[in-house]
Amino acid sequence: MILFLISLLTAHAWDYSQNGTNWGGKCADGLSQSPINIKKSNTKSLGDSFTMQVYYYGKTASRTVVNNGKYMFIEGDFGYITIRDSKSKDRKFLTTRIVFHIPSEHYFEDYPTHMEMQIHHKVDDSDYTFDFPSYAIVSVMLRPGDESYFFTSINVANLPPANNQTVLPGNSNVNLLSIVSPDDYYFFYNGSFSEPECDENVLRYVFETEQWISFNQINYFKALFITGSDAFSGPGDSRAIQLLNSRDVYYSFAITIGGLHLIAISLF
Ligand SMILES: *[C@@H]1O[C@H](CO)[C@@H](O)[C@H](O)[C@H]1NC(C)=O
Ligand SMILES: *[C@@H]1O[C@H](CO)[C@@H](O)[C@H](O)[C@H]1NC(C)=O
Repeated sequence: MILFLISLLTAHAWDYSQNGTNWGGKCADGLSQSPINIKKSNTKSLGDSFTMQVYYYGKTASRTVVNNGKYMFIEGDFGYITIRDSKSKDRKFLTTRIVFHIPSEHYFEDYPTHMEMQIHHKVDDSDYTFDFPSYAIVSVMLRPGDESYFFTSINVANLPPANNQTVLPGNSNVNLLSIVSPDDYYFFYNGSFSEPECDENVLRYVFETEQWISFNQINYFKALFITGSDAFSGPGDSRAIQLLNSRDVYYSFAITIGGLHLIAISLF
C-alpha cells in the first residue's frame, strides 16, 4: 500500500529541471518518443496515407488559459483535422488543447526555435477503431518577428502564474487560423506525448514554416519558465530531443530524388 502510494506520488512529481532526461518508464525506454531533431534532407516523401488537413475555425467563447506549474495550455474546441488512413478514408480528430513550450521541443536542422505550440487532437468517437492511432499533435514552431495576433487574442500580457489560470472574456475569438497556414508543408512521424507517461502511437505533425511572435510576447512566457537571459538559457518547459531509432520522418508534397527535394508543382 505504501509502495503504491509512493509510486502514485512520484508518477506526478515530474518537472523540466533536467528536460525530462530523468523521467522513467516509457519516457526512458520507449523507442518512438517525441520530440526529435528534424533534418529535411533525411525525410521521405509522404504518400497518401497520413496526409493531414486542417479545419480550424474561430468561435466566440470564453477560454481559460491554465498554468499547471509545468507549462501553459488552453483547453477547448478550436476545430479539427483529418488524417488519411491506408484505405484513403479521412479520419476526424478533434482539438482538445493547445500547449505552449519555451524553447521549442522539436529541433529543425539541429537547433530549437524560441517557442513551439502543440495542438493536441483526439480521434472523433465516430471514427474510432482499434487499428488506427487515437491521438495526433500538430506543432507550430515560433520565432521572433512581428507581434502575433493569436497571442494577443489569448491575452499573453496577462499569463497566469504557476498553478493559476486566467479566464478570457466571453467575446474572445481565439482562432488557430490566425497562426496556422492550412496549406503549409509539414513533417510527419510516429511519436509520443512529450510528457510523462510519454505514451506512444501519437501521430506527430510539425508545420515547416516558423510563425512570428514578438520578443515582447515571448518575454511573458520567458518570465514564467526561463531563469536565464534568453529563451534558450533554461530550464524552460521543453523535453530534450529523443533518438529517432528505426523511424522514418516524412515531408508533405515533396518528391525526393537522391536526397534532393523538389517541390511538386501543381499543373493548373
Ligand atoms: C490566482 O489569480 C487570481 C487573479 O489574478 C488571484 O486573485 C489569486 O490569488 C491567484 N491564486 C493563486 C493561488 O495564486
Ligand atoms: C507507431 O509506433 C507504435 C509504437 O511506438 C507502434 O505500435 C505503431 O505500430 C506505429 N505505427 C505506425 C503507423 O508505424
